[in-house]
Amino acid sequence: MLEVRGLSKAFGSLQVVCDVATTVRGGECLGVMGPNGAGKSTFFDLLAGVTRADAGRVYVDGADVSALPPEARVKAGLARAFQVPKPFASLTVAEHLRLAADAGGGLQGHAALERAEEVMERTGLSCLSMTTGSSLRLLDRKRLELAKALATGPKVLLLDEISGGLTEPEVQALVEMIQGLKRPGLAILWIEHIAHALQATCDRILMLHLGTKVIEDRPDVVAADPLVRELYLGTASHA
Ligand SMILES: Nc1ncnc2c1ncn2[C@@H]1O[C@H](COP(=O)(O)OP(=O)(O)O)[C@@H](O)[C@H]1O
Ligand SMILES: [Mg+2]
Repeated sequence: MLEVRGLSKAFGSLQVVCDVATTVRGGECLGVMGPNGAGKSTFFDLLAGVTRADAGRVYVDGADVSALPPEARVKAGLARAFQVPKPFASLTVAEHLRLAADAGGGLQGHAALERAEEVMERTGLSCLSMTTGSSLRLLDRKRLELAKALATGPKVLLLDEISGGLTEPEVQALVEMIQGLKRPGLAILWIEHIAHALQATCDRILMLHLGTKVIEDRPDVVAADPLVRELYLGTASHA
């Protein structure tokens, strides 16, 4: 569903993403780990088209989106949920999702309504459909952020540290929701610092260090890797 070849980006003399390649199939979830500054968010920026790559190609369901601007990549099936959700204060949950279904998913009228309903069900927001953005607690703002991405009808879903700021039980609720999103037509990529959340959800984990992929393998293999333990688990134990 997503194929990435030789993706690279430098800011001045700083090589932030260096020749990264991966393939994520429909139904799979790929975790992306790495210390702060490893290039994880820039990797997502390159996939989303927010930052222009120096080299490399991105394919969504076989279509080359490398030359497309961000909005066109959303229409091609690439959706992204941001770390800090910023809902519109006076719009309801349902209105947010109808907008996303329209602007990103190209659905109008009844079709947009149906998409909004379906997505609220998948993200546990049905009972909050008439609640406005300003009245949502953090976990529900995160749910809405995810739901907006889903409302565009994505083939590839990019999640960047969406569990930040949540309590442990809330992280657990979010993990269960993401596990429930896995389906054949959707590839999920998830950047997260919380190792156990990725271990529980992902089929594979890709580890970035200084912009370079150091390993991509099953969660148990990655967790047992000596370099990963030094780079990541060492960092985590001081956090
Ligand atoms: N627009 C930019 N201009 C210059 N340097 C940047 C820019 N964006 C990110 N960087 C640098 O790129 C490196 C990787 O950043 P980032 O992708 O945010 O890492 P991560 O998400 O893994 O913490 C950092 O050293 C950061 O300072
Ligand atoms: Mg980041």
